[in-house]
Amino acid sequence: MIKHLGKHVNQEIQIEGWLFNKRSSGKIRFVIVRDGSGQVQGVMAKQETDPELFELAGEVTQESSIRVRGFVREEPRAPSGYELTVTGLEVVGGSEDYPITLKKHGVDFLADRRHLWIRGPRQASILRIRSEIEQAIRDFFYQRDFILADSPIITSLAAEGTTNLFEIDYHGEKAYLAQTGQLYSEATAMALGRVYNFGPVFRAEKSKTRRHLLEFWMVEAEMAYCDFEQNLKVQEELVYYIIQRVLERNRLDLNTLKRDISKLEAVTLPFPRLSYTEAVKILQDSGEDFQWGEDFGAPQETLLSDHYESPVFVHRFPADIKAFYMKPDPSESRVVLGADLLASEGYGEIIGGGQRLDELEPLQQRIKEHNLPEEEFAWYTDLRRYGSVPHSGFGLGIERTVAWICGLEHIREAIPFPRMLYRIRP
Ligand code: 4AD
Ligand code: MG
Repeated sequence: MIKHLGKHVNQEIQIEGWLFNKRSSGKIRFVIVRDGSGQVQGVMAKQETDPELFELAGEVTQESSIRVRGFVREEPRAPSGYELTVTGLEVVGGSEDYPITLKKHGVDFLADRRHLWIRGPRQASILRIRSEIEQAIRDFFYQRDFILADSPIITSLAAEGTTNLFEIDYHGEKAYLAQTGQLYSEATAMALGRVYNFGPVFRAEKSKTRRHLLEFWMVEAEMAYCDFEQNLKVQEELVYYIIQRVLERNRLDLNTLKRDISKLEAVTLPFPRLSYTEAVKILQDSGEDFQWGEDFGAPQETLLSDHYESPVFVHRFPADIKAFYMKPDPSESRVVLGADLLASEGYGEIIGGGQRLDELEPLQQRIKEHNLPEEEFAWYTDLRRYGSVPHSGFGLGIERTVAWICGLEHIREAIPFPRMLYRIRP
């Protein structure tokens, strides 16, 4: 693998990959090969190379699949630090008129060819970072003895509001694609203590923004015997851990993306905490026309996060703008013990979470107020009938996190095949 070339300096090795690009300068030919783990430049000097091989290197076309043999050389000027002196080249599969050339293309042109677009160095770097982030999350929870308890994708419950549900026909019964696995994770937390679920969730968002997908991945933790503050601590440690892992293992990818790494290095623990009421004051002081009780939009989130180098928690939102399951603050009942984590650099909310309402009657009351079908929630309210405990949890959106860490302008690049308003292909 190209990633491991450093272990084979001055040895002859073979790379199985694709031709990214080629160049010629007088009597030297260059083939740039990619294999998914990275890119390397192969060099051939006419005088020192078999004529047939030299010829072939001139003919091979962009994105042909190729096997390349060569000696690994240290080359400080190469991004990866290595180069190949080519001794062999074999075309496995040709590629005629590859549609994505190395010049700039419009976003719609690229999105229509997403199955090929992901081969480009920028997209490949994003997807490698995404993979590292997902692995870091799994490692984080594993190291802390969380149990992975997956939640169903087909559900009869609307947990995050009824306006953006994808409805499906479940053999004649009405069902939905899950917006969240949280309610099920509350059940598994009562069985297993500390759990997480990790999978795709679905929201039929009707607006087109740079932060919303219709299908996205969420990791949700749920902890029995965990209060509001303890929950925030797990969240900030998770996000900090993710950043350190990417800084440690994806330097080349961050460089490919031209990410300002100092911004990620500036993130420190603990993250600042700001109550919603304090946040409203900050907004009003900076001239925003914003009233207590309103929900933040992207501009407000950006304005708030601009005050900090690290992500910032905004907590204790008005009950009216949050989900039915949030526990009211015992010292101020108009607000709930919920918090959003706003990423730095204006990337907006990456986590939503909080302490859950754990008493039976107030919870039943909230279900009624939200016009949710009580019978459907019977199993959920059972959790408050049989050994209810203070418990808390949160959900982190993977694509928003990837977009922030990679410094992307739009969330569509943060997932291999984005599902957006009016886009379901490829
Ligand atoms: O804030 P949300 O709606 O919270 C929940 O679903 C809770 N049940 C989580 C929990 O407490 N277990 O969503 C959580 C996160 C958001 O902070 C955001 O990062 C992401 O999911 N998210 C989206 N990402 C991409 N596209 C969308 N349409 C998103 N909606 C939410
Ligand atoms: Mg939210």
